[in-house]
Amino acid sequence: MKDSICRFTGRKLNTILDFGKQPLGNGFLYPDQFDNEYFFDMSIGFSEETFMLQLNEQPAPEKMFHEEYAFYSSTSKNMGLHFKKFAEDLLKSDYLKKEDPFIVELGCNDGIFLNHVSKQKIRHLGIEPSVNVAKVANERGVKTLSDFFSERLSKKLAKDYGKVDAFIAANVMCHIPDLKDIIKGIKKILNKKGVLIFEDPYLGDVIQKNSYDQIYDEHVYIFSALAVQKIFNMFDMELIDLQPQSTHGGSMRYFISHKGSYELSNNVEEIIKKEINLGLNKESTFRNFSTNIQNSKIELRELLKTLKSQGKKIAGYGATSKSTTILNYCNIGPDLIDYITDTTPIKQKKFSPGMHIPIVDYKYFKDNPPDFAFLFAWNHSNEIMEKESGYTNSGGKWITHIPNVRVI
Ligand code: SAH
Ligand code: TYD
Repeated sequence: MKDSICRFTGRKLNTILDFGKQPLGNGFLYPDQFDNEYFFDMSIGFSEETFMLQLNEQPAPEKMFHEEYAFYSSTSKNMGLHFKKFAEDLLKSDYLKKEDPFIVELGCNDGIFLNHVSKQKIRHLGIEPSVNVAKVANERGVKTLSDFFSERLSKKLAKDYGKVDAFIAANVMCHIPDLKDIIKGIKKILNKKGVLIFEDPYLGDVIQKNSYDQIYDEHVYIFSALAVQKIFNMFDMELIDLQPQSTHGGSMRYFISHKGSYELSNNVEEIIKKEINLGLNKESTFRNFSTNIQNSKIELRELLKTLKSQGKKIAGYGATSKSTTILNYCNIGPDLIDYITDTTPIKQKKFSPGMHIPIVDYKYFKDNPPDFAFLFAWNHSNEIMEKESGYTNSGGKWITHIPNVRVI
C-alpha cells in the first residue's frame, strides 16, 4: 500500500485502507466513453498530528468540477429547506448586525443557499467553478463568478468588492485539496469581526455509521472538530462554535473567526471531549474502521448474490457519488443491480462510473419497480421514504449498508 504525505505537516501519512482503482464519483458516462474512462488509486491516510483523515491521492480539481458537473444541489427538497433555514439564521445573527454586510459563498452550486440572500437584496457573491451549475445560480438572480476560490482570487476579490463579513461553504471545504491556500485567502479578506461558516459530512458520524461511502474523489478530507481546530490554529484563526447538522447523513457546521474576535461557545469543548472519547484522535480507531468497511463489503456482496440467485430484481435508488465508492469497492455491476434511478437529467441515459450500471429516470422506476431497492441516497431517507410509501406498501423492500448491511 502506498503511503502519502499529510497536506498540512508535509510528514508521512499512515495508510488506513486502500480502495483500489476508483473512477470519478460523479463521472457518469456514455458507452462510447467506457474505453477512456479515468481511474485513480484511492486510499485514505490519517495523521495523528493534525487528526485529519484524508485521501492519499486526489484527481486534479478541473477533472471533477467543470461545465458538465453532475451534482445539482436543488434536486433535494429537504436540502432546499435546510439552506433556507441556514440563510434565515445567518441573516438575523449578530455576525451580520452591521450596515451593508457582504456575504461570499464558496461552491454555491445552483444557488440553493444564496438565492435567499439575493431575495433580501443583501450584497453577496457566489464562487462556483462548475460552469453549468453557476449558470443556473446566475439565472436565479444569484451573482456568481465561475472560478476556483484561491488565495490568488481573494486578492482580486478584495480589490473588486472589499472585505467579507460572512464566508459560507457547504459541502465544499472538504473538496479542496490545497486547504492551506484557501484558508490564507479567506483570512486575507475576512473583516476583523467576520466569520467563516462551513459545514461538511462529519467524521464522528462516518465512524459511528460506517458510512465509508462518504469517501470518494471529491471528498479529500472528512473533518472533525479536532482537525478543524488544529488546522485553523496554524493560521491564527479560531474555531468559535460548532453546530451538528442532520444533513448528508450527519454533518457538522463549523464557525471560525480571526483569533480573539469572539468568545468560544461551550459546544467547542463539549464536542471535542466527545470526539476524544470516540477516539477520533487515534490511528487505532481508523484501523477498526478499516476492518468494519472490509466486513461490510463481504456482507453486502453476500446479500446481493443471494437475492439474485433467488431471481430477485434489484435496483439502486439515487445515483449518488457515494454509490460510486460502494459499487467499485464492492465490485457490484449490472449482474447484481439492474439499474439506478435518479431524478437528475444530466445523469440519466448514462451509466454509473466504473461499473457501468444504467441510470434511468424516475418514471422507469415507477413502471418497473424492483423487488429490492438499494438506498444509495440514504442521507435523504426521510424524504425518499415519504415519497415512496406506495412502493413500500406494495411489498417493495429496501436495502441499506448503514450502519450495517440489511434489508429494511
Ligand atoms: N454548496 C452546495 C454544493 C456542494 S458540491 C451544496 O451543499 O449542495 C461542491 C461544490 O463546490 C461544487 O459545486 C464545486 O463546483 C464547488 N467547488 C469545488 N472546488 C471549489 C473551489 N476551489 N472554490 C469554490 N467552489 C468549489
Ligand atoms: P446526494 O446524496 O445529495 O449526493 P452525493 O452522494 O452525490 O453527494 O445525491 C442525491 C442523489 O439522489 C441526486 O443525484 C438526486 C438523487 N435523488 C433522487 O433521485 N430522488 C430523490 O428523491 C432524492 C432526494 C434524490
